[in-house]
Amino acid sequence: MGAAPLLRASGVRKSFGATQALKGVDFELRAGEVHALLGPNGAGKSTLVKVLAGAHRPDAGTLTLDGRELGRLGPGAAHAAGIETMLQQTALIPELSVAENIALGRRVGRGGLVDWRAVRRDGAAALAALGLELRLEQPVGELSIADQRAVELARALSRRCSVLILDEPTATLGAREAQVLLRQVRRTAAEGVGVIYVSHHLDEVLAVADRATVVRDGRVVELLELRGERTVQAGDLVRAMLGREVVVAAPPERVGDTGAIALEARSLTVGRRLRDVSLTLRRGEIVGLFGAVGAGQSTLARVLSGQTRPGAGSVAVDGAPLRARTPRQALRRGIALVPEDRLRSGLVPAFDVAENIQLSARALSRGVLARRRLSEARRWVGDLGVQPADPTLPVAALSGGNQQKVVFAKAVASGGRVLMLEEPTAGVDVGAKQEIRALVGRLAGDGAAVAIVSTEPEEVLAMCHRIVVLRKGSVVAELEREQASRQALTELATGAEAGR
Ligand SMILES: Nc1ncnc2c1ncn2[C@@H]1O[C@H](COP(=O)(O)OP(=O)(O)OP(=O)(O)O)[C@@H](O)[C@H]1O
Ligand SMILES: [Mg+2]
Repeated sequence: MGAAPLLRASGVRKSFGATQALKGVDFELRAGEVHALLGPNGAGKSTLVKVLAGAHRPDAGTLTLDGRELGRLGPGAAHAAGIETMLQQTALIPELSVAENIALGRRVGRGGLVDWRAVRRDGAAALAALGLELRLEQPVGELSIADQRAVELARALSRRCSVLILDEPTATLGAREAQVLLRQVRRTAAEGVGVIYVSHHLDEVLAVADRATVVRDGRVVELLELRGERTVQAGDLVRAMLGREVVVAAPPERVGDTGAIALEARSLTVGRRLRDVSLTLRRGEIVGLFGAVGAGQSTLARVLSGQTRPGAGSVAVDGAPLRARTPRQALRRGIALVPEDRLRSGLVPAFDVAENIQLSARALSRGVLARRRLSEARRWVGDLGVQPADPTLPVAALSGGNQQKVVFAKAVASGGRVLMLEEPTAGVDVGAKQEIRALVGRLAGDGAAVAIVSTEPEEVLAMCHRIVVLRKGSVVAELEREQASRQALTELATGAEAGR
């Protein structure tokens, strides 16, 4: 108590058409604190963040910074006031280089001249602070989504500001990068910056945040002191967020490894990204493809789903060679992909939810009756708890986590019997995470062959029967889930000596 707030929002309301995203929110940020913003998918977190960043104009309410009322706040004004933001959706300019993107809005000297030496120097420093090894002159459009997010983080962290807002910064980071980020966030707060941290990773929140404001359905439902006398645990945060306990689904039982081989990859090589990787997937089996960011598991998923041509090696599906050059061709052979890069290759934002879910299915069988499409989409929306539960809304009107659920539904509804799921629960709340995991278990139980691509040990440990670990493009281990642990997986993925 005591400290005057650095940033205060009072009575903030914001509606989109009939949706009241914020119904009178009060929020307070102190200088030097990390303040977590928690809540289920669609609660209003990103909307609040965008209001604070000047990206949305609130319908009502006031914002004060350092005791001064901020008037009508546009992105430029928020910036000038010292509010720095990394939004949930990427906001980079694809044609510009890494260094230029980091410098955007800065380093323009008098007369509009750009100080290129300073741009490069700042860019290099920003990357180094996060331990990133990216080429400064590479256009960001050529980077993977994970690297793009890393560039945005580097940009946000490298700027002088008094308020730093990060909306799900670790959603695309691996465990190691996330650790580096959390240290940076603490350091930034120690310098007196107020940090707002939005995340569905409750362990991160407990590690990094001083306080947490919990939002549900457009309202603040709780303000928690995380560093107080009473120790707050993940379960307390879950109850505050969802208003109930979460039943953690047991890892799926193996139906027996008698299932027929659905997919067999032999000696796949893709430049230096994937080296001599072989893999067998059986029906009824859920296999984890685990590794640090860039270890090759995403490349493998892209090869298996026809997005990347291997330099060498072969893939057979149901015993016959796979020669798919496009995702659609792969789907004809029954392989469906939930891509890592959701918005670029996953969804058409302007289409409605039902159309998106049926996109790939429709490509296969044209002329499905609109009504049947809608009722099928309703079922998915219900199964996955998509909010608002209206399949006729454009996907662009959904929150980040709800969009993820639609991408997932789209892949699974396509009828594919070999499912490649990249980070299937990234960005979804703790409740929906369990629902997605249970659904994947059911699909495997019904005979699908599933590969889970993830950089998170928890994800593969919770979902998979077997875990293949990749490092620097090669398979370094293959474990039954019962033999695997968080520590073992992390050590294998990083090549750390296990202290033996
Ligand atoms: N541009 C928009 N147009 C219409 N509705 C929107 C828009 N942006 C958000 N909404 C709606 O406002 C509500 C709050 O969304 P918001 O993105 O703030 O949720 P969130 O808490 O960030 O969720 P998530 O954890 O999934 O990111 C949701 O019902 C969402 O559908
Ligand atoms: Mg959000």
